[in-house]
Amino acid sequence: MSTITEEIKKRRTFAIISHPDAGKTTLTEKLLLFGGAIHIAGAVKSNKIKKTATSDWMEIEKQRGISVATSVMGFNYGDYKINILDTPGHQDFAEDTYRTLTAVDSVIIVVDVAKGVEQQTRKLMEVCRMRNTPVIIFVNKLDREGRDPFEILDELEAELKIDVRPLSWPINIGAKFKGVYNIYEQSLDLFTPDKQKVSERVEIDDINDQRIDSAVGEADAKKLREDIELIEGVYPEFDVDRYLQGKVAPVFFGSALNTFGVKELLDCFVQIAPSPRPIETLERTIDPAEEGFSGFVFKIHANMDPNHRSCIAFVKICSGRFERNAPYRHIRSNKTMKFAAPTAFMAQKKNIVDEAFPGDIIGIPDTGNFKIGDTLTSGEELHFKGLPSFSPEMFKYIENTDPMKSKQLEKGIQQLMDEGVAQLFVNQFNGRKIIGTVGQLQFEVIQYRLLHEYGAQCRWEPISLYKACWIESDDAEALSAFKKRKHQFMAVDRDGRDVFMADSGYVLQMAQSDFPKIKFHFSSEF
Ligand code: G4P
Repeated sequence: MSTITEEIKKRRTFAIISHPDAGKTTLTEKLLLFGGAIHIAGAVKSNKIKKTATSDWMEIEKQRGISVATSVMGFNYGDYKINILDTPGHQDFAEDTYRTLTAVDSVIIVVDVAKGVEQQTRKLMEVCRMRNTPVIIFVNKLDREGRDPFEILDELEAELKIDVRPLSWPINIGAKFKGVYNIYEQSLDLFTPDKQKVSERVEIDDINDQRIDSAVGEADAKKLREDIELIEGVYPEFDVDRYLQGKVAPVFFGSALNTFGVKELLDCFVQIAPSPRPIETLERTIDPAEEGFSGFVFKIHANMDPNHRSCIAFVKICSGRFERNAPYRHIRSNKTMKFAAPTAFMAQKKNIVDEAFPGDIIGIPDTGNFKIGDTLTSGEELHFKGLPSFSPEMFKYIENTDPMKSKQLEKGIQQLMDEGVAQLFVNQFNGRKIIGTVGQLQFEVIQYRLLHEYGAQCRWEPISLYKACWIESDDAEALSAFKKRKHQFMAVDRDGRDVFMADSGYVLQMAQSDFPKIKFHFSSEF
């Protein structure tokens, strides 16, 4: 039997993030192809919520079922066990995506060469920065006309607020795209626009090798040498430690659709990306190689069958060896639980597993015992940090439209919030419930699920709010003065924390300057 340390060293648990359409699904699929986890292109597509389906929640219901299987995709690549966590890319699923990022050890960001850094990527990068998650960037769609790569690098640096270091470099882009010089390995790959074929490699010794000239022509070889000289002059040598600290992001160029540059990315990724690392809990730092098992729930996936209201809780294993049917302590309820049917996700299939290791994700069938952020351990009292809520973008009052069913509504709202579908704030002035989401679609999903799963009816009423800010102060008097002045806008979140509901950016700015002793936070973790 292998030791825990050996298992940990093999694990690479990461997420691919991008703005919709940059190529996340395509890249994921190509990685799975390399790992032998799937055999045909197009297999991952089913996971994608169709872009046209923004208000078609029946479609979403259908796809929710499918996406359980693709929430985590495990595969072996050489000696490595790789787990890709799917981050729902649709704008309306950002909240879920944020939380998935708390369960990964590193991230690959996909950027479209023509579009550069887009809004959603910027937001997700903020989460990575908060957690110092190591980031690799893949600039995609080099086969299409796009922007100058130097310009893209500057934009990545400015927009993602991270140092970058190219490890590969394109020879032209768009119609004239000829290939990529791999700075990391000093090799040259020529581009052949063929979706099923891996690129052709030219044997070279280094950048001055004349074989480059024969392969791409003298002019392009000269330009490449100038570019590389410039890169070496401008960017410090790639430093793996700085990458691991989340301070510098290596950049690769390629075309996911043409499977070009993907293997280089994967090979470098398995070499430099971190295996599970020590994790902070409120009590102490947990080393993954510790004997005691620990893990936390980062996602809860509601099942399709409304009659059973069963869910799958996704648990990231943080330390020790997880074993099927072993007694574990559920910290929040202080109950001992045994799991008879934990599933692992290999090659897009769910299988019952007997054991799992740090870095792995297991799915546990659940009937409502789990909440996002719950900790499971061999017995020790531990609470993992790092599952923050972020200020929602949209707010509405939720009103009961069937007084006979108020209990069902209460219960439904509570469970949906536990699942992390949206956030609930209760206004302290009028007692009204406010639901905050990151997208319009979630309001529809909530209304639909309350009716179909809990038999409760609700209606939405508009409220004009800009942001929810968690507030705190060392000065109790200042805090109480603030709450008094803003009493109409004070709410509590589901953990009873004070939240100031600012109705405009201006009001928030004024509040910040009028009350210097109050700290305003845009995420629940500070
Ligand atoms: P997403 O998951 O990030 O939303 O993006 P996805 O992979 O679905 O890619 C979005 C579109 O971009 C797809 O086209 C895909 O084929 C295309 N694409 C991905 N990588 C490349 C690339 O390297 N070069 C080029 N030229 N296109 C690329 P679509 O028309 O929206 O979908 P489909 O009909 O092709 O499936």
